[in-house]
Order: sequence, then C-alpha cells, then structure tokens
Amino acid sequence: MRSVISFPDRGHWGNRNYRGNCSGHVQKSLIEQYQPRLFVDICEGGGTSKDVCAEMGIEYVGLDLRHGQDYTRDDILNQLTRPADMVFSHPAYHTAILYSGNMWGEADPRDHSRCETYEEFLEKSRVMLSNQREATKEGGIYTSLIGDIRKNGEFYSPQADFIRMMPRNELKSVTIKMQHNTWSGSKSYNKMKHPYIDHEYLLIFERTAKTLIQVSWDKALELKREIAQTWRTLIRLVMMKLGEASLAKIYKEVELLAGPKLASNPSWKAKVRQTLQMHHNNVQRGVWAA
Ligand SMILES: C[S@@+](CC[C@H](N)C(=O)[O-])C[C@H]1O[C@@H](n2cnc3c(N)ncnc32)[C@H](O)[C@@H]1O
Repeated sequence: MRSVISFPDRGHWGNRNYRGNCSGHVQKSLIEQYQPRLFVDICEGGGTSKDVCAEMGIEYVGLDLRHGQDYTRDDILNQLTRPADMVFSHPAYHTAILYSGNMWGEADPRDHSRCETYEEFLEKSRVMLSNQREATKEGGIYTSLIGDIRKNGEFYSPQADFIRMMPRNELKSVTIKMQHNTWSGSKSYNKMKHPYIDHEYLLIFERTAKTLIQVSWDKALELKREIAQTWRTLIRLVMMKLGEASLAKIYKEVELLAGPKLASNPSWKAKVRQTLQMHHNNVQRGVWAA
C-alpha cells in the first residue's frame, strides 16, 4: 500500500448506488497490508466491506445506524465476540449526503449526517473514533476514511480534527485517496475561486495499550502546552514590533493584537509578565527587550 491511492474503477463490491459508497479496493488494500482476522465496519452503508471480506475469506462484522446500531451510543466492543484486528469507519462527511430520511428510513436525530453544526459533527466523531479504538485489540488497526468539505464559503478539514483527537503516537499513516465518479465532480468548476476537492483521506492508527483515561489526560496536557505556545508566539510578535519597550506599552500592543478575546482571561497581564520572564530580557525595571 502507498500513501497515495487511486481506484478509477470502484470494483464490484457493495451497492454502487448507495450514495457516498467507497471503492472496495480501499478495504482490500488494508486487508492485504495488515492481514486482519476480524474486520469490523461500523458504517457499513451499501455493504462494500462485507463483500470484500466475504471474497477474501475474512471474518466480518458490519454495523450501521440503518440497522439500528449507533456508534455514538452503543459500545462497539459489546457487539463483538472479541476485540477486532481492524475497525474501519467511513462516516458521513458532515451534511454533504443525508442518510436517514434520504437513503433509508425516516430522518433520525442520531444520524451523524444530520448534525446541525460542525461542532456537533466533531463531538460525535470523537465518540466514534474512541468507540472504534476501544473495540480494537492492542496492536490492531483502527482506521477512518474522511474527506474535506466546502460549504457556504467555509472550508472544513475533519481529517485534521480527527488526527488532533487521537493519540499522536498511534497515527501511522495519512493516505491520500483520489476521488472518482462523484456527483459533484460531474459539475463544471471553471469559475471556482479555490481548488476543487479531488481527494479524501484514509487515516490509519495502531492501538497501543493506553487506557481511554490516559489518552484524555495526554490530550489535556497537549492543550495546556498549546495555550502556552500561543502566548509565547503572541509576545514574540509584540516584541518583534516594539524591540525594547515598557510593560505598559507591551500590554497595549498585546491588547491590540489579541483583541476582545483577552477580556475573557482575567489574569492576562500576569500571563504576559510570566511569558516575558521566561523568554525575553529584562533590560531595566519595567522595560523589556526582544
Ligand atoms: C459514507 S456512508 C458509508 C458507505 C460505505 N462505506 C459504502 O461503501 O457503502 C456512512 C454510513 O454511516 C451511517 N451512519 C450515520 N450515522 C451513524 C451512526 N450514528 N452510527 C452508525 N452509523 C451511522 C449511515 O447510515 C451511512 O450508511
């Protein structure tokens, strides 16, 4: 398997008329690469994984909300006889294609494609990925196929958010998959201001022994570090501009750069002083230099 994959012919697996279906070559490549014994697809859709696994003689479990299994509420592991070697997800790309009330049944509020906001979509995605991870055996693979979205002038890249959500050391590959034969691809895009989206991502993670609590703890630490770095960058930019300046001038410039957001942080002046002390030179009382 390579980090760029392209299958102009989706192959004979699954229902090609199920909107948003993927090429079975994706699952086939994953199986050839990792040789799983138990493969689980938690968004089975038109049954692409089911057909690939049947053809390759791989034990398979397929779940989908259309059959009543909701990965945001139902524990995946509970629905298996043992932790899986590979757990695959191919969720809705936010609201790009509606599933319940469109591809099957009545509109269902549990449907991942019916999230009202992108934040809700991400929150459900985090549960999906964690649930997927918990159902994967130690050393096994959990993987997700997801694309970028451009809607009402906004660009969203869930793959970047998915990567941020999961343990850094478990990410093993970000594979680019070229998209072919999409409905939107048949339109004319001559007048588009920004490039047309022609690819999606296959994110591959390898599960370690870390518990969910450890994973959440590590993520909280990462966030703390990121906040500290944001302050460091902000003060660095201010000092770049001012060169040498009094604390009062530095506060003023920080306020200008950070804007109204600062008001929500009552201890921001202390944070500025702390960052100056750690990374800049105190040339005389109350005066700092880059
Ligand atoms: C992009 S499609 C998967 C297509 C599939 N890979 C194929 O080749 O046909 C996403 C699927 O996720 C299902 N789904 C949406 N919300 C879900 C949820 N909360 N739990 C489980 N499945 C969900 C939809 O019913 C839909 O079948």
